[in-house]
Amino acid sequence: MIARVAATYEGTIAREIFGAQEIATSIGRLADEIVRDYRNMPLTLIGVLKGALFVTADLARAIAALPDGPSELSIDYICVSSYGNASRSSGEVRLLKDATEPVAGHNVLLVEDIIDNGLTLEYLRALLGERNPATLRSCVLFDKPFRRLVQVPVEYVGLQVPDEFVVGYGLDYQELFRNLPYLAQLQPEVFTNG
Ligand code: IMP
Ligand code: MG
Repeated sequence: MIARVAATYEGTIAREIFGAQEIATSIGRLADEIVRDYRNMPLTLIGVLKGALFVTADLARAIAALPDGPSELSIDYICVSSYGNASRSSGEVRLLKDATEPVAGHNVLLVEDIIDNGLTLEYLRALLGERNPATLRSCVLFDKPFRRLVQVPVEYVGLQVPDEFVVGYGLDYQELFRNLPYLAQLQPEVFTNG
């Protein structure tokens, strides 16, 4: 229980790692790269819930703001669980809600909030790859490259994050902190009281 954490998160944030503006700039750069690669092609973004809910929305709109992008863009979401409620990956990935749009013959771009050991993205690439997409790539906003257990291709990478548990901009600790507009490290007390 961390019921003492109020929605203002006062006193629980140790430091800001990336501010809202840095995140927006990085997403703009990712949109540039994506627009260049999918010019005049239909594109399906599949965001990985819940963490990628904001990055998927912001990336989709950043793409729309650029000229000469994909001919069509649709947005879908898939929901998996890989962490339970601990701050370490269980290594076990469960599919909680599948994508609803067809994948076969489509250019699919998986959008993830963060990659750590790589097992979540490996699972999703295998799952969607079996459905015969025309192309399948991954875009990850935050990269923690220190503890990879599997080498999984990530074609579009945003910002490298230190080897720490981070929250905000969609990432949670026990379902809290997702709505912080920036990426942050928590005070250690938040974990010890958890
Ligand atoms: P992986 O399977 O270890 O690559 O982890 C991917 C998933 O774990 C992400 O989609 C996140 O939901 C979660 N995750 C990894 N690192 C963090 C973190 O620092 N904070 C919050 N969630 C994380
Ligand atoms: Mg995630």
